[in-house]
Amino acid sequence: MMKNIIVTGGAGFIGSNFVHYVVNNHPEVNITVLDKLTYAGNRANLAGLPADRVNLVVGDIADAELVDKLVKNADAVVHYAAESHNDNSLIDPSPFIQTNIIGTYTLIEACRKYGVRFHHVSTDEVYGDLPLREDLPGHGEGEGEKFTPESRYQPSSPYSSSKASSDLLVRAWVRSFGLKATISNCSNNYGPYQHIEKFIPRQITNILSGIKPKLYGTGKNVRDWIHTNDHSRAVWTILTKGKIGETYLIGADGEKNNKEVLELILQEMGQSKDAYEMVKDRPGHDLRYAIDSSKLRSELGWEPKFTNFEDGLRDTINWYKDNKSWWKDEKAEVEAKYTANGH
Ligand code: NAD
Ligand code: DAU
Repeated sequence: MMKNIIVTGGAGFIGSNFVHYVVNNHPEVNITVLDKLTYAGNRANLAGLPADRVNLVVGDIADAELVDKLVKNADAVVHYAAESHNDNSLIDPSPFIQTNIIGTYTLIEACRKYGVRFHHVSTDEVYGDLPLREDLPGHGEGEGEKFTPESRYQPSSPYSSSKASSDLLVRAWVRSFGLKATISNCSNNYGPYQHIEKFIPRQITNILSGIKPKLYGTGKNVRDWIHTNDHSRAVWTILTKGKIGETYLIGADGEKNNKEVLELILQEMGQSKDAYEMVKDRPGHDLRYAIDSSKLRSELGWEPKFTNFEDGLRDTINWYKDNKSWWKDEKAEVEAKYTANGH
């Protein structure tokens, strides 16, 4: 029975969407959010949630004493907290090592001590990248290879290698210590509350601020987009129905290249299709991600509900239009950092 759960990183983008999802759909569950409120965490993401069901503890997942105290009384830990942005990891990897590796280690040690269920939220980026479909024999006919739970780990960036490290720690703790854990690796999320450093909200808020959107490299890199609500439902499904020790891939067949996504944003916001700038590419930029989520679908019965990307994108654009106060104070600083790094 999941009555009291800890959601680490629950004041960030995907974590806060998960907290909203649980509050709205599982009235029997109380949530303790453990979040350090870094630049990416925001109390406002939890505004309006019932105080008798959601309690925010501001603290570090690498604080062993605090973690021990909280985990002792919990039924499960759902672990979202991380440094999450590739570009930042290329400027300074150190917080990625500390939070993503040492932080995860601290949590799983406490979970093993108290026999508490642990769900580790991870990324498809641990598998590196795939060739573009257009570069495959047959020139784009057929879908090409996708990531499966058996794909080889070959992360490219400091961010993705720190997430890969944390996945491997969880796997080892399951095998050696009997940790009651599951892992999920999800593709690129979009939706409300995403920090404006990330691709989609950066471009939406650029247009709303009179700044030209910025496309890295050729714009041909492919991401496999999923609405964050579908991710939340998948994590809940795995937490409650998943088999201990298993890894589940979460994806909604949403492959699009960055240029296509940007053109959709421009079109939806009444701009001309070419009203953007090409900027310096990301070093080591992964070419293509694509998820085979058939294990999650066939074994646990999950299906995505947000299957129309254009509709989900329109709602997301409207959310940033309607919530300017949520992002406008940070915009100049985020853009200044990008400009300093040639992006
Ligand atoms: P985010 O950057 O928006 O939020 C991260 C949250 O973690 C913030 O609230 C931050 O304050 C908190 N945090 C950071 N360091 C902490 C620490 N040491 N202790 C406690 N809290 C800390 O990230 P996101 O995009 O919501 O990603 C959440 C998780 O999902 C990450 O583990 C990420 O790897 C994974 N993921 C993200 C995506 C995506 O598309 N964004 C896709 C797949 C998986
Ligand atoms: O695949 C899951 C991953 O998706 C998560 O693990 C990460 O936490 C999350 O940040 C995301 O990583 P990406 O690097 O794919 O996301 P980002 O939003 O930074 O960039 C998406 C794509 O858009 C990528 O190919 C780089 C490109 N890009 C990004 C920015 C910020 C641009 O072309 N222009 C931009 O301004």
